[in-house]
Amino acid sequence: MGEVAQRPLDRALEGWASGSLEAGLRAALSVLEVQKESALALLACSYLGGKLGDPAGFADGLRAAAERATDAGQLPLAIVAGALSRELGLDPAPIFDAAAAAYGKGSARLKRQAPPALPGGAVKPASVPNSLAGKALIERVEKAVRASAEELLTAHGHGPLSPAPLFSSLDPPALRSFLEIFEPRVMPAGAPVVEEKTFGGDAFVVAHGELEVTRHGAVDADPVHLARLGAGALVGEMALLSRAPRSATVVTAAPALLLTASKQALDVAVTKNPELGREFAEHCRRRMLDNLVKASPILRSVSPLERAELVRRFSIRAFEQGERIIQQGHAPDGLFLIASGEVAVVHQDEAAESTVLARLGPGETVGEVALVLRRPAIAEVVANHPTVTLLLPAERFLEMARAHPKVLVDLYELAVGRDQETAAAAEIEAADLDDSILV
Ligand code: CMP
Repeated sequence: MGEVAQRPLDRALEGWASGSLEAGLRAALSVLEVQKESALALLACSYLGGKLGDPAGFADGLRAAAERATDAGQLPLAIVAGALSRELGLDPAPIFDAAAAAYGKGSARLKRQAPPALPGGAVKPASVPNSLAGKALIERVEKAVRASAEELLTAHGHGPLSPAPLFSSLDPPALRSFLEIFEPRVMPAGAPVVEEKTFGGDAFVVAHGELEVTRHGAVDADPVHLARLGAGALVGEMALLSRAPRSATVVTAAPALLLTASKQALDVAVTKNPELGREFAEHCRRRMLDNLVKASPILRSVSPLERAELVRRFSIRAFEQGERIIQQGHAPDGLFLIASGEVAVVHQDEAAESTVLARLGPGETVGEVALVLRRPAIAEVVANHPTVTLLLPAERFLEMARAHPKVLVDLYELAVGRDQETAAAAEIEAADLDDSILV
């Protein structure tokens, strides 16, 4: 889609999101009149037209928008069209049936590498004056939707499609029922989708627009930009699977159309379709590793080539909330890199008084003081939330240190610094205790 045509579509979504439906409709119409094949313009005109006029007159428009989106490789947009039909009281079955048949596992249309959809040229939008409103606006929209739907429904293709991540792991009947769990959500630019460190169970798929993913981490740390995601991307799935707080903040960079699914509905779908669960888990594992590499000073200090080799030495170890990861006075199982969740580092003095020395999150390391300085753990480490770590077993630490001496130097510096901090904290505790005895 061309640059010039893109901006009115953003305006269409902004109007839709803010409840200025006529303004949104005028913007979408200005595109549809010059680009009959624009799935998003047709979808917005049909839905907003159906909201403001008679929904029955826009059923074909939504169906044609879904078919166009399907052919253009935009399955999430086709699902939005189905969900919007349902919302307008129309029958969504033809849309969901067609989408499931095209993208379900085993579909004859699915090819590993389908040719990418050709972008449309830049087209000047049609002039739609602000004075066009009410019945006159609906009539003109009906005409444009009819013309577009007629053309698209006859031209509906059977060309090859690339598999849709996650969705194409399901065969058509399973995909058909999975498609029904999603609800559409339109959002203006700059709106929060999920907020780091909060709890939430919904997951989202981007149907149109762009999302910015950022991690703020500690209060005084600089935010780390993690990703910019576009159509087809999945977000919010990590908290759902790990049960940890949200790992990042996600904000719309431009007006967006999202699909949302609740944790309960996703849990049911995953139980029914183990393949879907495996795809979810693999997706999360990749993102967790990606984030760990971006956040961990230890991993970042080695070259990307070395890093992949280094990460392969670790295995995943998950802990439930409240579970002990390291026991004070004992040798730890190894070196832990926190991938998601949060741990508390707690020191217990001789009088069995506990002091929380730190709370550590993704990218931080625990277990290095005991391993590097070769002595029992000076504090206990407990999971504050469900926590996922990468573990390098103690017996393989030396071998890793030989292969990556730079990592050993970094760990040594970290260990010495933390050991001093803990000793200082213990001294303060002891002094406090002495004072209290004197008093
Ligand atoms: P969740 O932890 O539930 O909430 C924040 C979301 O940001 C997270 O799920 C992922 O969907 C997304 N996210 C986290 N890290 C990345 C990344 N490296 N790339 C893309 N998306 C990410």
